Amino acid sequence: LPSPSRKVWQREGGRRVLPGRDPNSHKGSHGKALVVGGAAHMPGSIAMSAKAALRSGAGLVTIATPKSAMNAVASYVQEATFLPLAEERGVIKDSAGVDVSAYDGVAIGMGMGRGQESNNLVSHLISTVKAPLLIDADALYQLKNLVGLLRSRTYPTILTPHPGEFAHLVDQSISAIVRSPFSYSREFSKAYGVYTVLKGPATIITAPDGSQFVDLSGNAGLAKGGSGDVLSGILLAMMLQSGSITYALNNGCMLHGLTAEMLTKDAHSMVDLLATDLVEGLTQTFRTFS
Ligand code: APR
Ligand code: MG
Repeated sequence: LPSPSRKVWQREGGRRVLPGRDPNSHKGSHGKALVVGGAAHMPGSIAMSAKAALRSGAGLVTIATPKSAMNAVASYVQEATFLPLAEERGVIKDSAGVDVSAYDGVAIGMGMGRGQESNNLVSHLISTVKAPLLIDADALYQLKNLVGLLRSRTYPTILTPHPGEFAHLVDQSISAIVRSPFSYSREFSKAYGVYTVLKGPATIITAPDGSQFVDLSGNAGLAKGGSGDVLSGILLAMMLQSGSITYALNNGCMLHGLTAEMLTKDAHSMVDLLATDLVEGLTQTFRTFS
C-alpha cells in the first residue's frame, strides 16, 4: 500500500485541474502535438495514440511515420497531418534531419519497432525537442545506450514503461521491478532528471525530484495490446493543456483508467474491451467527469 510520501491521485482533486475550453480559444491555444512511430506491419499503435491525443483535446496532431504506413494510419485518423519519414523495410530509418521545432509536445515509440534503424532518431529528439518529450514502447529499447543524454535536456522528459520495458532499461529482472517498483522508479527519475510513469494495475508516477503518486484507476479490461498506446496519446494531450507535468500525468492516467471502468460497466466487458473502444469512450469520460 502507498505510504504517505506516495500520494494516491484523488479523482475529485484531479477533476479540478482537468483542461477546459475557453470560448475564444483556437486550435493553437490547445497545442501542437507530434507523435513519432509506426511501421508498415504495425500502423495501429501510432494511429490510436494520435486519435487519443485528439480526443483528449490536443489542438493539432502531426504523425511522423514511415511513408508505407501513412495510408493505413490516415484512414483511422482523418484529423491529423503527416510527416512522412524515410524507411527501410517498412520501419523508420535514420531520420536525424527531421524538424521537430514547431511542436508543443512530442511522443515517440508507439509501434516503431525495436531495430537499431531508429536509434539516431531517438537521440536526435532527445537533443532537439524543446518541449515535453514522452518516450514510450519501442523507443524505450533504444534509450539504453542514450540515457546519458537525458540529463542534458532542459525541457521535461517523460518515460512510460511497463515493467518489462523498465526492467530492460535498468538492467534488472521484471520480478525485481515488480517487487520494488517505487524505489526503482524513484532512483531512475532522480538519476536522470525524468518523469517515470511505471504502468500496471497500480501505475506509479514519479517526478524528477523523486516525489511519487499512485493511480489506481482502470481494470483488467486494459490488459490488451494497444491500451498503452492510447495512454501515451492522452498524456501528451494533457501536457499540452496543463502548466504542471505532474498534474497532466496523473490526470491522464486517471482518465484512461476511468474510461475503462465506465465502458466495462455498461457497453463492454473486460473480455471484449478494445483499445479503440477506449479512444471513443473518452467522449463519455470527458462529458461526465470534466
Ligand atoms: N489493471 C489496470 N490497468 C491495467 C491492467 C490491469 N490489470 N493491465 C494493463 N493496464 C494498463 C496499464 O496501466 C497501461 O496503462 O494498460 C496499459 C498497458 O500499457 P502497455 O503495457 O504499454 O501495453 P500495450 O498498449 O499493449 O503496449 C503496446 O508496446 O511493444 C510495444 O510497440 C508496441 O506500442 C506498442 C506497445
Ligand atoms: Mg506499450
